Amino acid sequence: MASKTPDYALLARQLDALMDSADWLVNAAQITAFIMQQVDELNWVGFYLQRQPELLTLGPFQGKPACNPIPFDKGVCGAAARSRQPQRIDDVHAIADHIACDAASNSELVIPLMREGTLWDVLDLDSPRRARFSEEDQAGIERLVKVFLERTSLPDWLAAP
Ligand code: SME
Repeated sequence: MASKTPDYALLARQLDALMDSADWLVNAAQITAFIMQQVDELNWVGFYLQRQPELLTLGPFQGKPACNPIPFDKGVCGAAARSRQPQRIDDVHAIADHIACDAASNSELVIPLMREGTLWDVLDLDSPRRARFSEEDQAGIERLVKVFLERTSLPDWLAAP
């Protein structure tokens, strides 16, 4: 049975209250834990950062130890990074170059995070249930990402190319 769609408007307000420092590392850790706790049927939530051109480096996450690094030309995260478009995948096994970090993952949502036209990182959500992520979930997670972007300053060490 499908999970009940969370009240993303409420979650956005709660997340806004949680983002009480502008510190990227604190807020990135908090948003991954917050999503893992508040959104049902997830087995992995985390960041991949573009710290060198066209290469994604693992960042703060919740879940099993994950693959690192991921080049822009590989996987669902790479597709989100190079196209700068969200990727909502009902069945990851249907994606030829999907990177299976956790064998439990069956569906995936990846949101690219842009600041002033530059891709800095992507937020990746994995679920054990096929077709876990609806359009509503995508819009809701994008809303949470917007709160994160508004409330967070970028440290020098995160520098995107
Ligand atoms: N499945 C992703 C790799 C990252 S993990 O799911 C944590 C991909 O294909 O890009």
